[in-house]
Amino acid sequence: MHVTLLSGPNLDLLGEREPEVYGTDTLADHVRRAAAVAESLGWTLDHFQSNHEGALVDAVHGARSRADAIVVNAGALTHTSWSLHDALGAFDGVVIELHLSNPAAREPFRHTSVLAAVADGLVAGMGGLGYELAIEAAVRLAGAGGRGGGTPDDGLRRADEEKR
Ligand code: DQA
Repeated sequence: MHVTLLSGPNLDLLGEREPEVYGTDTLADHVRRAAAVAESLGWTLDHFQSNHEGALVDAVHGARSRADAIVVNAGALTHTSWSLHDALGAFDGVVIELHLSNPAAREPFRHTSVLAAVADGLVAGMGGLGYELAIEAAVRLAGAGGRGGGTPDDGLRRADEEKR
């Protein structure tokens, strides 16, 4: 099973960009920890970052044939990108929306996510820990049968049963 991690605009600057909001870890640090969690659960992970909306839409299309789940921190495109919304809506697997900060507790323009309606769940406000939690959530939801197929607990139960 495979998860695609997508990073939107300006996340390439993590570590330098507003460390009081986003912390001092780099994107590479987050990706490394996310990949370790995926691997520990028997999954593989690929990561793609772009500052360009169309490139991220293309990456979602690419994930359609490759990935069972997408974890996406779309940066500010979260609040504006209907093309990313539509691309994610055409993806059959699990979608988890991810943010380092808690957008709901910040400026009003961050309070709306146009991606929320096509996501199975949201991890926000947990800092770098969120990357690990979002990967675990994606794996557990996909184990429950994918989008609409159950709860994360169903996925965990199924994984336990397979071990027995
Ligand atoms: C962010 C929150 C967005 O509002 C912001 O534009 C980002 C990062 C986060 O991870 O907290 O670029 O997605």
